[in-house]
Amino acid sequence: MKILLTGAAGLIGSALRPALERDGHEVIPLRRGLPEGGERAGRAWDPGRGWFSPGALEDLDAVVHLAGETIAALRWTAAKKQRIRDSRVAGTRLLCETLARLARPPRALIAASAIGYYGDRGGEILTEDSGPGRGFFPELCRDWEAATRPAAGAGLRVANLRFGVVLSRAGGALPRLLPPFQFGLGGPLGRGDQYMSWVALEDAVNIVRRALRDETLRGPVNAASSQPVTNREFTRALGTILGRPTFFRVPAFVLQLVLGEMAGPLLLASARVEPAKLTACGYGFRMPSIEEALANELARR
Ligand SMILES: NC(=O)c1ccc[n+]([C@@H]2O[C@H](COP(=O)([O-])OP(=O)(O)OC[C@H]3O[C@@H](n4cnc5c(N)ncnc54)[C@H](OP(=O)(O)O)[C@@H]3O)[C@@H](O)[C@H]2O)c1
Repeated sequence: MKILLTGAAGLIGSALRPALERDGHEVIPLRRGLPEGGERAGRAWDPGRGWFSPGALEDLDAVVHLAGETIAALRWTAAKKQRIRDSRVAGTRLLCETLARLARPPRALIAASAIGYYGDRGGEILTEDSGPGRGFFPELCRDWEAATRPAAGAGLRVANLRFGVVLSRAGGALPRLLPPFQFGLGGPLGRGDQYMSWVALEDAVNIVRRALRDETLRGPVNAASSQPVTNREFTRALGTILGRPTFFRVPAFVLQLVLGEMAGPLLLASARVEPAKLTACGYGFRMPSIEEALANELARR
């Protein structure tokens, strides 16, 4: 397939691109801004200005859309929140409206979303049929997914992959959580009973590969391991693998003081997500358990 990839330089994109190329696909990154060497050097877009380089979306079999302003910043200021939202909702709408107007649109759009859709739900088991939560992050995810409707309306098969926390040594949450544990200062965050739904980077990549070829995957798809863990279980697994104690519980108010609003949805909210559609289509996780996933990542240099 000829596949256009947005967010190619990000955590998932940079692992996905070589995997798709190994599968024999042609992967074309859609870069932001004018690429070096001018318009002929590659396909580009400027989501803020609503601009695509000529032919940027022509002659494609599928689009994988991962782009969005990074969520894990030190603090969510009002301006940062606006960029997080606009880059996803307006950016996705622009992409999808433009795809919908093509004479020969691609067959499939695989678009990133997040388990943040569900919000803070305690121990409730959350499948793709569960409704959205309340607050900035669930509303963002709801609108981000809704922005793909023009593509679905034009006949593309759209799969909205609700990724869990992607575990990788290369980026995202894990490298930020590691240092206190390595110094023996790790411990549960807040009450510690909140569920964390996670996915190993290798599985995140394999789920995109599966979604590209599996016609049964459409609409929201939970892209999180079938074995979510509580924060306390995650803490114990990480401490055991590192051979470090995990006595230092960090109270919720300290996290909120240091990190501000993002501590709630990213660290304290509880989402016990079940990958119902992936299970139904027979997808087998390479890293189903947190112990395996952490041991595998931490064995990497
Ligand atoms: N990692 C996780 O744990 C996780 C969990 C749930 C959902 N997700 C979602 O999955 C997608 C991919 O995740 P990721 O971890 O690979 O993300 P990432 O490492 O933050 O990369 C996202 C990519 O988006 C592009 N980008 C950055 N700022 C942008 C802006 N203002 N406007 C448009 N594009 C911008 C960049 O690509 P270019 O420079 O190539 O344009 C960047 O490499 C994201 O939408 C993320 O929200 C990730």
